[in-house]
Amino acid sequence: MTVVRVNASRKYDVIIGEGIFDDIGKLAKKAVGICKALIITDTNVEPLYAQRLTDSLKKEGFNVIKYVIEAGEASKNADNFIKILNFAAENHLSRSDVFFALGGGVVGDLTGFCAASYLRGVKFIQIPTTLLACVDSSVGGKTAINLDAGKNLAGAFYQPYLVCCDPTVLKTLPDEVFKDGCAEVIKTAILGDEKLFEKLKEKKITSDIIARCIEIKRDVVCEDEHDTGRRQVLNLGHTVGHAIEKLSDFKISHGKAVAIGMAIISNTCLTESECRDAITDMLKLYELPTKCDYSSDDIYKITQTDKKRGSSDITVAIPTTIGNCILKTISMETLKNIIDKGVSNQ
Ligand SMILES: NC(=O)c1ccc[n+]([C@@H]2O[C@H](COP(=O)([O-])OP(=O)(O)OC[C@H]3O[C@@H](n4cnc5c(N)ncnc54)[C@H](O)[C@@H]3O)[C@@H](O)[C@H]2O)c1
Ligand SMILES: [Zn+2]
Repeated sequence: MTVVRVNASRKYDVIIGEGIFDDIGKLAKKAVGICKALIITDTNVEPLYAQRLTDSLKKEGFNVIKYVIEAGEASKNADNFIKILNFAAENHLSRSDVFFALGGGVVGDLTGFCAASYLRGVKFIQIPTTLLACVDSSVGGKTAINLDAGKNLAGAFYQPYLVCCDPTVLKTLPDEVFKDGCAEVIKTAILGDEKLFEKLKEKKITSDIIARCIEIKRDVVCEDEHDTGRRQVLNLGHTVGHAIEKLSDFKISHGKAVAIGMAIISNTCLTESECRDAITDMLKLYELPTKCDYSSDDIYKITQTDKKRGSSDITVAIPTTIGNCILKTISMETLKNIIDKGVSNQ
């Protein structure tokens, strides 16, 4: 069992360990005390893990209720947000009670925003069940729902009280969902740790690898919790990736789009060719795509509407060597050149 301590505006532990799932009751009792627990989960995860979590919590004296949303990104919406708040109110949850997010990033983001809003903030514990949620979305306190105008447009920075990550639950993940998480693991190694990158060559995602990714994310988040600077390195490959996701009408999944985005952005003159080839080889090893059929013009047009763009410039994360990444604010024209170069080198 590994404990990663996060010293953000709230201080909390991320506990990573094979087989800790049935001890979540004990761990939660230590972190938040015995109270009423609202488990929020989705239709895929509920039949697999909700009963085990309920049993573990009840054993320690928690009073447990459950709310299940339809699996999928479309559920991260305002309608479910309000329904969950009403459900909590109807069940008389108080400020001293706790919300549990049992699922992937969709459940985590939605539950976190509900917890941040209900009674102006209740306790909240993340139980990530996808690889992406383990290494990325469950740590760092970004919570959100999607609006009609776009993804993640309403939300809050709201840190959890505890994160419990048991990698054995990843065994039931569909291959394609697991691969999406691998793209974020590779991203984390590229931006933060050359040794981790070397380890990834064994093509085995272990608890240690997950814990190291969490540490790297923790370090970035603690430096810039509210995403005004350094935290943007976590967006490596995402400016181009988001554009590809949108162009495909979300048929190309997030992880695969980010993989293509990383392959494209690593083709800049800031990157030595050795580093560029290492990134592409790693993505291929994990059966992730490194190219797409969209033209650089089409990709560029969508990046122009990227919500993180300030006036005429854009800040992008660019790998310099494996394990290091810089943030560079560049003109949109330079971005266009980078995309042109990246797409033509595919
Ligand atoms: N808050 C953040 O910092 C942050 C960071 C990255 C991504 N995100 C958000 O995360 C979301 C994507 O998360 P995701 O990729 O985990 O998607 P997801 O939550 O939709 O999960 C993917 C699929 O896997 C299923 N699933 C989950 N756990 C399972 C398990 N153990 N066994 C079998 N099936 C399982 C789900 O039901 C779903 O169908 C997006 O909404 C994105 O915006 C948030
Ligand atoms: Zn991502």
